[in-house]
Amino acid sequence: MGKEGNEWVVTRTGRAPSNIAVIKYWGKRDEKLILPINSSISVTLDPAHLSATTTVSASPAFESDRLWLNGKEVSMEGVRYKNCLREMRARATDMVDERTGVTIRKQDWANVHVHIASENNFPTAAGLASSAAGFACLVFTLAQLFGVKETYEGELSAIARLGSGSACRSLYGGFVKWNMGQDVDGKDSIATQLAEHTHWDDLVIIIAVVSSQQKETSSTAGMQESVRTSPLLHFRAQEVVPQRIKQMEEAVKTCDFEEFAKLTCADSNQFHATCLDTSPPIFYLNDTSRRLIGLVERWNRFAGKPQVAYTFDAGPNAVMFARDQEVAVLLLQRLLFQFPPLPDLELSSYVVGDQSVLKSAQ
Ligand code: ADP
Ligand code: DP6
Ligand code: CO
Repeated sequence: MGKEGNEWVVTRTGRAPSNIAVIKYWGKRDEKLILPINSSISVTLDPAHLSATTTVSASPAFESDRLWLNGKEVSMEGVRYKNCLREMRARATDMVDERTGVTIRKQDWANVHVHIASENNFPTAAGLASSAAGFACLVFTLAQLFGVKETYEGELSAIARLGSGSACRSLYGGFVKWNMGQDVDGKDSIATQLAEHTHWDDLVIIIAVVSSQQKETSSTAGMQESVRTSPLLHFRAQEVVPQRIKQMEEAVKTCDFEEFAKLTCADSNQFHATCLDTSPPIFYLNDTSRRLIGLVERWNRFAGKPQVAYTFDAGPNAVMFARDQEVAVLLLQRLLFQFPPLPDLELSSYVVGDQSVLKSAQ
Protein backbone atom coordinates (compact mmCIF):
# COMPACT_ATOMS: atom_id res chain seq x y z
CA MET A 1 0.00 0.00 0.00
CA GLY A 2 1.27 3.43 -0.93
CA LYS A 3 0.92 5.02 2.48
CA GLU A 4 2.28 3.77 5.75
CA GLY A 5 0.18 2.77 8.72
CA ASN A 6 -3.54 3.18 9.17
CA GLU A 7 -3.85 6.74 8.07
CA TRP A 8 -5.60 6.43 4.73
CA VAL A 9 -9.25 6.16 3.76
CA VAL A 10 -10.50 5.73 0.19
CA THR A 11 -14.12 6.51 -0.60
CA ARG A 12 -16.57 6.15 -3.45
CA THR A 13 -20.22 7.22 -3.76
CA GLY A 14 -22.78 5.80 -6.17
CA ARG A 15 -26.45 6.05 -6.89
CA ALA A 16 -28.85 3.45 -8.29
CA PRO A 17 -32.53 3.63 -9.10
CA SER A 18 -35.43 1.54 -7.92
CA ASN A 19 -37.47 -0.42 -10.45
CA ILE A 20 -41.05 -1.62 -10.66
CA ALA A 21 -41.84 -5.02 -12.10
CA VAL A 22 -44.63 -5.13 -14.67
CA ILE A 23 -44.28 -8.91 -14.92
CA LYS A 24 -43.50 -9.93 -11.36
CA TYR A 25 -40.85 -12.09 -9.77
CA TRP A 26 -42.33 -14.02 -6.86
CA GLY A 27 -40.73 -17.27 -5.78
CA LYS A 28 -37.24 -18.78 -5.81
CA ARG A 29 -36.08 -22.16 -7.06
CA ASP A 30 -32.79 -21.66 -5.19
CA GLU A 31 -32.81 -19.65 -1.97
CA LYS A 32 -29.05 -19.34 -1.63
CA LEU A 33 -28.27 -18.16 -5.13
CA ILE A 34 -31.59 -16.29 -5.41
CA LEU A 35 -32.70 -17.98 -8.62
CA PRO A 36 -36.32 -17.26 -9.55
CA ILE A 37 -39.07 -19.61 -10.66
CA ASN A 38 -39.93 -17.30 -13.55
CA SER A 39 -38.46 -14.47 -15.60
CA SER A 40 -39.63 -10.90 -14.93
CA ILE A 41 -39.74 -7.50 -16.65
CA SER A 42 -39.40 -4.09 -15.01
CA VAL A 43 -39.39 -0.38 -15.68
CA THR A 44 -36.60 1.62 -14.08
CA LEU A 45 -37.84 4.47 -11.90
CA ASP A 46 -36.63 8.06 -11.86
CA PRO A 47 -33.45 8.11 -9.76
CA ALA A 48 -33.97 11.74 -8.78
CA HIS A 49 -36.91 10.57 -6.70
CA LEU A 50 -36.54 6.82 -6.19
CA SER A 51 -32.98 5.78 -5.64
CA ALA A 52 -30.40 4.67 -3.14
CA THR A 53 -27.18 6.62 -2.63
CA THR A 54 -24.35 4.69 -1.08
CA THR A 55 -20.93 5.74 0.13
CA VAL A 56 -18.33 3.04 0.67
CA SER A 57 -15.07 3.74 2.46
CA ALA A 58 -12.14 1.43 3.03
CA SER A 59 -9.33 1.87 5.51
CA PRO A 60 -6.88 -0.38 7.34
CA ALA A 61 -8.04 1.43 10.48
CA PHE A 62 -11.51 -0.15 10.20
CA GLU A 63 -11.82 -3.23 12.39
CA SER A 64 -14.87 -4.77 10.74
CA ASP A 65 -17.31 -4.31 7.86
CA ARG A 66 -20.14 -2.02 9.00
CA LEU A 67 -23.32 -0.68 7.41
CA TRP A 68 -25.52 2.31 8.17
CA LEU A 69 -28.93 2.35 6.48
CA ASN A 70 -30.76 5.67 6.48
CA GLY A 71 -28.53 6.90 9.31
CA LYS A 72 -28.90 3.87 11.58
CA GLU A 73 -26.37 1.11 11.95
CA VAL A 74 -27.70 -2.29 10.85
CA SER A 75 -26.03 -5.68 11.11
CA MET A 76 -23.88 -6.90 8.23
CA GLU A 77 -24.10 -10.45 9.51
CA GLY A 78 -26.87 -11.18 7.00
CA VAL A 79 -25.82 -13.69 4.36
CA ARG A 80 -26.88 -11.37 1.53
CA TYR A 81 -24.52 -8.55 2.48
CA LYS A 82 -21.77 -11.08 3.11
CA ASN A 83 -22.26 -12.78 -0.25
CA CYS A 84 -22.18 -9.50 -2.18
CA LEU A 85 -19.07 -8.33 -0.35
CA ARG A 86 -17.30 -11.67 -0.77
CA GLU A 87 -17.99 -11.77 -4.51
CA MET A 88 -16.86 -8.17 -4.98
CA ARG A 89 -13.69 -8.60 -2.87
CA ALA A 90 -12.80 -11.68 -4.88
CA ARG A 91 -12.83 -9.53 -8.04
CA ALA A 92 -10.89 -6.56 -6.64
CA THR A 93 -7.97 -5.27 -8.69
CA ASP A 94 -5.00 -2.99 -8.06
CA MET A 95 -6.36 0.45 -7.37
CA VAL A 96 -4.70 3.85 -7.41
CA ASP A 97 -6.76 6.49 -5.66
CA GLU A 98 -6.06 9.76 -7.42
CA ARG A 99 -7.43 11.88 -4.63
CA THR A 100 -5.28 10.48 -1.83
CA GLY A 101 -2.42 9.02 -3.82
CA VAL A 102 -2.99 5.68 -2.10
CA THR A 103 -2.24 2.49 -4.05
CA ILE A 104 -3.98 -0.68 -2.93
CA ARG A 105 -2.79 -3.96 -4.33
CA LYS A 106 -5.21 -6.65 -5.38
CA GLN A 107 -4.05 -9.03 -2.66
CA ASP A 108 -4.41 -6.37 0.09
CA TRP A 109 -8.15 -5.88 -0.35
CA ALA A 110 -8.88 -9.14 1.46
CA ASN A 111 -7.64 -7.56 4.71
CA VAL A 112 -9.22 -4.14 4.38
CA HIS A 113 -12.64 -3.61 5.92
CA VAL A 114 -15.33 -1.32 4.56
CA HIS A 115 -17.78 1.11 6.11
CA ILE A 116 -20.95 1.56 4.08
CA ALA A 117 -23.54 4.31 4.47
CA SER A 118 -26.68 4.13 2.34
CA GLU A 119 -29.72 6.40 2.12
CA ASN A 120 -32.92 5.85 0.19
CA ASN A 121 -34.79 8.95 -0.97
CA PHE A 122 -38.09 7.02 -0.79
CA PRO A 123 -39.76 4.69 1.76
CA THR A 124 -37.68 1.66 2.77
CA ALA A 125 -39.31 -1.81 2.91
CA ALA A 126 -42.70 -0.43 1.83
CA GLY A 127 -43.11 -2.13 -1.53
CA LEU A 128 -41.26 0.37 -3.69
CA ALA A 129 -38.28 -1.94 -4.19
CA SER A 130 -35.78 -0.41 -1.78
CA SER A 131 -33.94 -3.75 -1.74
CA ALA A 132 -33.50 -3.43 -5.52
CA ALA A 133 -32.05 0.09 -5.39
CA GLY A 134 -30.05 -0.71 -2.24
CA PHE A 135 -28.24 -3.83 -3.43
CA ALA A 136 -27.72 -2.60 -6.99
CA CYS A 137 -26.16 0.52 -5.51
CA LEU A 138 -24.02 -1.43 -3.07
CA VAL A 139 -22.59 -3.64 -5.81
CA PHE A 140 -22.11 -0.76 -8.24
CA THR A 141 -20.32 1.38 -5.64
CA LEU A 142 -18.14 -1.49 -4.44
CA ALA A 143 -17.18 -2.07 -8.07
CA GLN A 144 -15.93 1.53 -8.21
CA LEU A 145 -14.00 1.16 -4.97
CA PHE A 146 -12.46 -2.22 -5.72
CA GLY A 147 -11.86 -1.44 -9.38
CA VAL A 148 -14.02 -4.34 -10.56
CA LYS A 149 -14.61 -4.68 -14.30
CA GLU A 150 -17.13 -7.19 -15.61
CA THR A 151 -15.51 -10.25 -17.21
CA TYR A 152 -18.84 -11.11 -18.84
CA GLU A 153 -21.88 -8.96 -19.46
CA GLY A 154 -24.23 -9.10 -16.51
CA GLU A 155 -21.63 -10.16 -13.94
CA LEU A 156 -22.51 -7.27 -11.61
CA SER A 157 -26.20 -7.96 -12.16
CA ALA A 158 -25.64 -11.56 -11.01
CA ILE A 159 -23.86 -10.34 -7.86
CA ALA A 160 -26.59 -7.78 -7.10
CA ARG A 161 -29.06 -10.67 -7.42
CA LEU A 162 -27.35 -12.36 -4.47
CA GLY A 163 -28.38 -9.34 -2.38
CA SER A 164 -31.98 -9.18 -3.58
CA GLY A 165 -33.49 -10.72 -6.70
CA SER A 166 -35.07 -7.52 -7.95
CA ALA A 167 -31.70 -5.72 -7.58
CA CYS A 168 -30.29 -7.42 -10.68
CA ARG A 169 -32.74 -5.31 -12.74
CA SER A 170 -31.68 -1.99 -11.18
CA LEU A 171 -28.29 -1.88 -12.90
CA TYR A 172 -29.90 -0.80 -16.17
CA GLY A 173 -32.14 2.08 -17.22
CA GLY A 174 -35.36 1.97 -19.20
CA PHE A 175 -37.07 -1.40 -19.67
CA VAL A 176 -35.31 -4.43 -18.25
CA LYS A 177 -35.77 -8.20 -18.33
CA TRP A 178 -34.43 -10.62 -15.73
CA ASN A 179 -33.96 -13.90 -17.49
CA MET A 180 -34.61 -16.72 -15.01
CA GLY A 181 -31.72 -18.70 -16.52
CA GLN A 182 -30.97 -22.41 -16.40
CA ASP A 183 -27.44 -22.75 -15.02
CA VAL A 184 -27.16 -24.26 -11.56
CA ASP A 185 -24.58 -21.64 -10.59
CA GLY A 186 -26.89 -18.80 -11.64
CA LYS A 187 -24.44 -17.28 -14.12
CA ASP A 188 -27.16 -16.84 -16.72
CA SER A 189 -29.78 -15.56 -14.26
CA ILE A 190 -29.06 -11.93 -15.07
CA ALA A 191 -30.86 -8.84 -16.27
CA THR A 192 -30.54 -7.29 -19.71
CA GLN A 193 -31.92 -4.06 -21.06
CA LEU A 194 -34.89 -4.40 -23.44
CA ALA A 195 -35.09 -0.73 -24.36
CA GLU A 196 -33.63 2.57 -23.23
CA HIS A 197 -35.57 5.10 -21.19
CA THR A 198 -36.00 7.32 -24.25
CA HIS A 199 -37.63 4.49 -26.19
CA TRP A 200 -41.16 5.23 -24.95
CA ASP A 201 -41.33 9.00 -24.53
CA ASP A 202 -45.07 9.34 -23.97
CA LEU A 203 -45.27 7.09 -20.95
CA VAL A 204 -45.70 8.92 -17.62
CA ILE A 205 -45.29 7.17 -14.28
CA ILE A 206 -47.42 8.29 -11.35
CA ILE A 207 -46.65 6.96 -7.90
CA ALA A 208 -49.22 7.11 -5.13
CA VAL A 209 -47.65 6.49 -1.74
CA VAL A 210 -50.53 5.08 0.25
CA SER A 211 -48.35 4.20 3.22
CA SER A 212 -44.63 4.56 3.86
CA GLN A 213 -44.83 2.14 6.80
CA GLN A 214 -42.57 -0.87 6.75
CA LYS A 215 -44.52 -3.93 5.54
CA GLU A 216 -45.35 -6.75 7.92
CA THR A 217 -44.16 -9.54 5.65
CA SER A 218 -40.89 -8.95 3.81
CA SER A 219 -40.77 -9.97 0.15
CA THR A 220 -38.28 -12.69 0.99
CA ALA A 221 -40.48 -14.30 3.66
CA GLY A 222 -43.68 -13.78 1.66
CA MET A 223 -42.45 -15.54 -1.46
CA GLN A 224 -41.03 -18.43 0.59
CA GLU A 225 -44.48 -19.03 2.04
CA SER A 226 -46.11 -18.75 -1.38
CA VAL A 227 -43.70 -21.27 -2.92
CA ARG A 228 -44.48 -23.65 -0.07
CA THR A 229 -48.25 -23.31 0.01
CA SER A 230 -49.76 -21.68 -3.08
CA PRO A 231 -50.81 -23.98 -5.96
CA LEU A 232 -51.72 -20.86 -7.94
CA LEU A 233 -48.12 -19.63 -7.79
CA HIS A 234 -46.79 -22.75 -9.50
CA PHE A 235 -49.48 -22.61 -12.16
CA ARG A 236 -48.64 -18.94 -12.71
CA ALA A 237 -44.88 -19.53 -13.01
CA GLN A 238 -45.20 -22.44 -15.40
CA GLU A 239 -48.32 -21.74 -17.43
CA VAL A 240 -48.91 -17.98 -17.38
CA VAL A 241 -45.70 -15.99 -17.04
CA PRO A 242 -43.68 -17.47 -19.96
CA GLN A 243 -46.36 -16.34 -22.39
CA ARG A 244 -46.73 -12.93 -20.71
CA ILE A 245 -42.99 -12.33 -20.88
CA LYS A 246 -43.09 -12.74 -24.66
CA GLN A 247 -46.16 -10.53 -24.97
CA MET A 248 -44.68 -7.86 -22.72
CA GLU A 249 -41.41 -7.82 -24.64
CA GLU A 250 -43.40 -7.23 -27.83
CA ALA A 251 -45.57 -4.54 -26.21
CA VAL A 252 -42.48 -2.67 -25.01
CA LYS A 253 -40.78 -3.03 -28.37
CA THR A 254 -43.76 -1.60 -30.25
CA CYS A 255 -44.83 0.87 -27.50
CA ASP A 256 -48.25 -0.77 -27.53
CA PHE A 257 -49.92 0.84 -24.52
CA GLU A 258 -53.10 -1.21 -24.69
CA GLU A 259 -51.23 -4.48 -24.47
CA PHE A 260 -48.76 -3.10 -21.93
CA ALA A 261 -51.60 -1.93 -19.69
CA LYS A 262 -53.60 -5.16 -19.93
CA LEU A 263 -50.57 -7.29 -19.10
CA THR A 264 -49.34 -5.01 -16.31
CA CYS A 265 -52.69 -4.89 -14.48
CA ALA A 266 -53.35 -8.60 -14.99
CA ASP A 267 -49.94 -9.57 -13.68
CA SER A 268 -50.19 -7.35 -10.62
CA ASN A 269 -53.60 -8.82 -9.85
CA GLN A 270 -52.41 -12.38 -10.30
CA PHE A 271 -49.42 -11.75 -8.06
CA HIS A 272 -51.73 -10.46 -5.30
CA ALA A 273 -54.02 -13.41 -5.89
CA THR A 274 -51.10 -15.75 -5.20
CA CYS A 275 -50.49 -13.85 -1.96
CA LEU A 276 -54.10 -14.50 -1.01
CA ASP A 277 -53.67 -18.12 -2.10
CA THR A 278 -50.76 -18.46 0.34
CA SER A 279 -51.43 -20.09 3.67
CA PRO A 280 -51.75 -18.15 5.90
CA PRO A 281 -52.78 -15.50 3.34
CA ILE A 282 -50.65 -12.40 2.84
CA PHE A 283 -52.34 -9.03 2.32
CA TYR A 284 -50.19 -6.38 0.73
CA LEU A 285 -52.99 -4.26 -0.69
CA ASN A 286 -55.22 -2.16 1.56
CA ASP A 287 -58.55 -0.36 1.03
CA THR A 288 -56.89 2.65 -0.56
CA SER A 289 -55.02 0.39 -2.99
CA ARG A 290 -58.28 -1.30 -3.95
CA ARG A 291 -60.01 2.07 -4.46
CA LEU A 292 -57.18 3.08 -6.79
CA ILE A 293 -57.65 -0.13 -8.78
CA GLY A 294 -61.39 0.57 -9.00
CA LEU A 295 -60.82 4.10 -10.23
CA VAL A 296 -58.47 3.00 -13.01
CA GLU A 297 -60.62 0.03 -14.04
CA ARG A 298 -63.76 2.20 -14.32
CA TRP A 299 -61.90 4.85 -16.29
CA ASN A 300 -60.44 2.32 -18.74
CA ARG A 301 -63.80 0.64 -19.25
CA PHE A 302 -65.52 4.00 -19.81
CA ALA A 303 -62.83 5.12 -22.29
CA GLY A 304 -63.21 1.87 -24.25
CA LYS A 305 -59.45 1.20 -24.17
CA PRO A 306 -56.76 1.43 -21.48
CA GLN A 307 -55.62 4.93 -20.58
CA VAL A 308 -53.89 4.06 -17.34
CA ALA A 309 -52.21 0.93 -15.96
CA TYR A 310 -51.55 0.12 -12.32
CA THR A 311 -49.21 -2.23 -10.56
CA PHE A 312 -48.48 -2.95 -6.88
CA ASP A 313 -45.40 -4.71 -5.53
CA ALA A 314 -45.31 -6.29 -2.10
CA GLY A 315 -46.93 -3.29 -0.42
CA PRO A 316 -49.99 -1.03 -0.74
CA ASN A 317 -48.33 1.70 -2.84
CA ALA A 318 -49.47 2.15 -6.43
CA VAL A 319 -47.31 2.68 -9.46
CA MET A 320 -49.44 3.86 -12.36
CA PHE A 321 -48.59 4.41 -16.00
CA ALA A 322 -50.45 7.03 -18.00
CA ARG A 323 -50.48 6.57 -21.76
CA ASP A 324 -49.38 10.21 -22.29
CA GLN A 325 -49.00 13.61 -20.60
CA GLU A 326 -52.62 14.56 -21.13
CA VAL A 327 -53.87 11.42 -19.42
CA ALA A 328 -51.32 11.93 -16.64
CA VAL A 329 -52.72 15.38 -15.86
CA LEU A 330 -56.26 14.00 -15.85
CA LEU A 331 -55.19 11.14 -13.61
CA LEU A 332 -53.58 13.48 -11.10
CA GLN A 333 -56.72 15.65 -11.09
CA ARG A 334 -58.94 12.64 -10.49
CA LEU A 335 -56.74 11.30 -7.75
CA LEU A 336 -56.65 14.65 -5.99
CA PHE A 337 -60.41 14.88 -6.26
CA GLN A 338 -61.10 11.33 -5.10
CA PHE A 339 -58.55 11.04 -2.31
CA PRO A 340 -58.79 14.10 -0.11
CA PRO A 341 -57.62 14.97 2.45
CA LEU A 342 -54.02 15.04 1.37
CA PRO A 343 -51.38 14.17 2.44
CA ASP A 344 -52.97 10.77 3.04
CA LEU A 345 -52.00 9.99 -0.47
CA GLU A 346 -48.70 11.40 -1.59
CA LEU A 347 -48.62 11.80 -5.36
CA SER A 348 -45.76 12.30 -7.74
CA SER A 349 -45.22 11.89 -11.44
CA TYR A 350 -42.10 10.75 -13.21
CA VAL A 351 -40.56 9.71 -16.46
CA VAL A 352 -38.89 6.35 -17.04
CA GLY A 353 -35.51 6.22 -15.30
CA ASP A 354 -32.41 6.60 -17.43
CA GLN A 355 -29.17 4.70 -17.38
CA SER A 356 -26.98 7.57 -16.31
CA VAL A 357 -28.42 6.63 -12.94
CA LEU A 358 -25.39 4.71 -11.97
CA LYS A 359 -23.32 7.68 -11.12
CA SER A 360 -20.21 7.73 -9.08
CA ALA A 361 -18.71 10.73 -7.42
CA GLN A 362 -14.96 10.47 -6.91
P1 ADP B 1 -38.84 -3.43 -0.60
O1 ADP B 1 -40.24 -3.63 -1.08
O2 ADP B 1 -38.62 -2.02 -0.15
O3 ADP B 1 -37.81 -3.90 -1.58
P2 ADP B 1 -37.92 -5.74 0.91
O4 ADP B 1 -38.61 -6.47 2.01
O5 ADP B 1 -37.74 -6.47 -0.36
O6 ADP B 1 -38.72 -4.37 0.70
O7 ADP B 1 -36.46 -5.29 1.35
C1 ADP B 1 -36.22 -4.36 2.36
C2 ADP B 1 -34.80 -4.61 2.89
O8 ADP B 1 -33.81 -4.28 1.88
C3 ADP B 1 -34.40 -3.70 4.05
O9 ADP B 1 -34.91 -4.20 5.26
C4 ADP B 1 -32.89 -3.76 3.97
O10 ADP B 1 -32.41 -4.96 4.53
C5 ADP B 1 -32.62 -3.81 2.48
N1 ADP B 1 -32.33 -2.46 1.97
C6 ADP B 1 -33.23 -1.50 1.65
N2 ADP B 1 -32.61 -0.38 1.23
C7 ADP B 1 -31.28 -0.64 1.29
C8 ADP B 1 -30.10 0.12 0.98
N3 ADP B 1 -30.19 1.37 0.52
N4 ADP B 1 -28.90 -0.45 1.17
C9 ADP B 1 -28.80 -1.71 1.62
N5 ADP B 1 -29.86 -2.50 1.91
C10 ADP B 1 -31.09 -1.97 1.76
C1 DP6 C 1 -43.19 -8.15 -5.61
O1 DP6 C 1 -36.38 -8.83 -4.83
O2 DP6 C 1 -37.45 -7.84 -2.80
O3 DP6 C 1 -41.35 -6.67 -5.85
O4 DP6 C 1 -35.11 -11.55 -3.80
O5 DP6 C 1 -36.02 -12.06 -1.53
O6 DP6 C 1 -34.82 -9.92 -1.93
P1 DP6 C 1 -35.68 -10.99 -2.53
O7 DP6 C 1 -37.05 -10.30 -2.90
P2 DP6 C 1 -37.35 -8.97 -3.73
O8 DP6 C 1 -38.80 -9.34 -4.31
C2 DP6 C 1 -39.46 -8.50 -5.18
C3 DP6 C 1 -40.87 -8.97 -5.38
C4 DP6 C 1 -41.76 -7.98 -6.11
C5 DP6 C 1 -41.79 -8.27 -7.61
C6 DP6 C 1 -40.57 -7.87 -8.41
O9 DP6 C 1 -39.87 -6.91 -8.07
O10 DP6 C 1 -40.38 -8.51 -9.46
CO1 CO D 1 -37.57 -5.85 -2.32
